[in-house]
Amino acid sequence: MKRDEFSGFFGVLVATVGSAVGLGNLWRFPYLVGQNGGAAFILIYLAFVLVICLPIMISEFIIGRRTQANTVKAFQMLAPRTPWGAVGIVGVVAAFCILAFYTVVGGWTMDYIFRSVIHVFSTPDASAIESQFAALVTSPIRPIFWTILFILLSALIVMSGIKKGIEKYSRIMMPFLFFMVVILMIRSVTLPGAEKGILFLVKPDFSKINTQVALAALGQAFFSLSLGMGCMITYGSYIPKRENLTKLAFTTAMSDTLFAILAGLAIMPAVFSFGISPQEGPGLVFIVLPRIFAQIPLGNIFAVMFYLILFIAAITSSISLLEVVTAYITEKLKMKRKTAVAIISALVAVCASFSSLSQGVLQHVKIFGKSIFDFFDYLSANILLPLGGLSIVLFVGWYIKKSTVYDEFTNQGTLKGTLFRAYYFLIRYVAPVAIAAVFVDLIVR
Ligand code: PFF
Repeated sequence: MKRDEFSGFFGVLVATVGSAVGLGNLWRFPYLVGQNGGAAFILIYLAFVLVICLPIMISEFIIGRRTQANTVKAFQMLAPRTPWGAVGIVGVVAAFCILAFYTVVGGWTMDYIFRSVIHVFSTPDASAIESQFAALVTSPIRPIFWTILFILLSALIVMSGIKKGIEKYSRIMMPFLFFMVVILMIRSVTLPGAEKGILFLVKPDFSKINTQVALAALGQAFFSLSLGMGCMITYGSYIPKRENLTKLAFTTAMSDTLFAILAGLAIMPAVFSFGISPQEGPGLVFIVLPRIFAQIPLGNIFAVMFYLILFIAAITSSISLLEVVTAYITEKLKMKRKTAVAIISALVAVCASFSSLSQGVLQHVKIFGKSIFDFFDYLSANILLPLGGLSIVLFVGWYIKKSTVYDEFTNQGTLKGTLFRAYYFLIRYVAPVAIAAVFVDLIVR
């Protein structure tokens, strides 16, 4: 049977952008910008995306499309009888770990949509909203109910396959997502006093920049672009041979960055307009924003829109994570897609339930001093992703034959490949050094 693939450029693009645009853009990026000097952070972030992440994304696409296999088999095919396959395994484990906490936050977004619809956030009282959030995350049943529903929806999409599942739903959801975030941005920048927030995002304060901030920007770029764990290798394996990988990676990275900036513009001006500190940190979208929605006209409608955006962004990323594990299991164990997805989802549901409970009744259970939820987050984002990213650049830059890389880069010589030399230089020298720096910093910190 012919392996499933995406239908064409736009089909791949909605899927890769769907994977990249996620909680990382809407929740992590705005608060990191808030804490790290506004526009200056954005400029460094942009430079990293172009110089380091873009070449890595192209490399992941090359590995995937060349082999048309899941991430473990891809490494094994390009490097038979070597331990390189382990990089793929680490990727599958990382995907699973991210799913174990990402789907919990996905569940929270569903609870917030539901509560916005039934008008619960009608108080501007900060402590009331804070305790509502605490009540949700510490409850033993409610967040697990939503998390399981979230996993079920992701599973249904992935069960339908690449073209008829992932691509089809991304085609509907992604344009809607961009449309809604633009509406929210317009609302936010037209609030009284919004200028201060806009200024914060466009006027760089370089005095805030140091190596720590630079490294935070690189780590964020990695997470936001879904790099370092075989996600883009897996999606790459479904890209038709005629598509231009450089163009695809460039458009994906730019769309993801554009979305992060739009999200910043939808959030920061509103935050400044209500005199709240931009350095609120992780509670920004679940605690600060409801207070704002309670105070603006038609706030309830904007609240429903915002949490719907958060939900869509989360689910299109979650399906890409699920696909990494699914592709591996179906191809390795020759299992039917539906069966594999059902088994994997059940396992994810068990781990996610534990990470949800670790916010409440299982608070005292610690793994290496962290709650189960934080452990999954830390292990995947801070250790497995940089390790995977480093391995991928070393693999493509130093292990695979240059002619093979060139061949896939230029679609078997049919494209000009003008940028190949620049790409190859970045992947061989610049990217490994930069990632090693982040990795060392994250471990030492
Ligand atoms: N890129 C997603 C985000 O910004 O939320 C998170 C993510 C998805 C990371 C898929 C890694 C991945 F493979």
